[in-house]
Amino acid sequence: MRKLSKLFAAVALAATAAVGANAAHAAAGDASSPVKVFYYSLNDLFINQLSSSLQDQALANNIKLAQYDANDDLLRQISQIQTALSINRDHTPILVNPVDTQNGTAALRSARKARVPIIFFNRKPSDEALKSYSDAWYVGTIPASAGYYQAEIVTDYYKAHPEMDTNKDGILNYVMLKGEAGHQDTTARSNTFVRTMLDQGIKLKPVGSVNANWSQANAQNQMANIIERVGVQNIEMVVCNNDAMALGAVLALQAEGYNVPDDTSGKFIPVVGIDGLPSALDAVERGIMIGTVFNDYKSTADVMIRIASAYINGEVVTDDLVGYPIKNQTIEIPYVKVTNENISKLR
Ligand code: GAL
Repeated sequence: MRKLSKLFAAVALAATAAVGANAAHAAAGDASSPVKVFYYSLNDLFINQLSSSLQDQALANNIKLAQYDANDDLLRQISQIQTALSINRDHTPILVNPVDTQNGTAALRSARKARVPIIFFNRKPSDEALKSYSDAWYVGTIPASAGYYQAEIVTDYYKAHPEMDTNKDGILNYVMLKGEAGHQDTTARSNTFVRTMLDQGIKLKPVGSVNANWSQANAQNQMANIIERVGVQNIEMVVCNNDAMALGAVLALQAEGYNVPDDTSGKFIPVVGIDGLPSALDAVERGIMIGTVFNDYKSTADVMIRIASAYINGEVVTDDLVGYPIKNQTIEIPYVKVTNENISKLR
């Protein structure tokens, strides 16, 4: 019996210590110093959009932000973070969108050493890395579900428009424009799209599949090359891991007289993206793309600022505080499927 109550006491103590660790750092935050945000690249259209939402949320919550762009250079980002941590010796949280898509451990180690809370976003560090520091968090999404929603968008469209199978062979010839190789979103989105389509009994044939690294210009070039190689009339849909690449694909198709707004020629190849960038929402509204998946940058920014404010105000980070369930120091913001039917709700 004594043994048991000892055990309970130990568990209770451990629980207080866990909460205490979080609260202790929080008290040390300094409202007058800015929250520093480190982006892998502000040239990335989605990251740029997320940065605008973060600035809006910070302003609404009276938080100053200092923003750093690594321009996709890992060493530059590590040095930006280390310099910022060494100059400013308070415990104001930092927000990190790692260049390193694999684990983000360098940033985590520096933050842990300086006892500064670190909120990762958009690129998930490994679970082990997160677990190694109780003031580390990740705010992101479940990338596979974006691929699933893309498959639903295409399947519904195909049912309503069987003519998208232009050669009527019962197989959809598709081009896939993928993000960076080795990025969690690239793999999960692409694989889940294909698997879901096959599960639904839709046959697919890839006629082109390339990594266009999230970039509109890169996607436009590579799409133009694919068109030249296989012939535009042999492409029956274009599936893109993000909207920037979908918009690039649209430009390449338009150069061939396809997907031209208000055109009645019937030259149209379904294009689907992910992110819900304002320009992609416009394209969906104008019937140039068949849909996208909203990668909720507004809620992502809101949760990040809530966690940062909690530390600054000495509050504990809980499910209630962030508005979502927290599991393994991770907050997953749901995606939203977007087609012409629900687009007005997102505006
Ligand atoms: C994804 C997003 C892409 C790109 C990438 C960068 O979540 O959909 O557009 O921004 O993150 O890590």
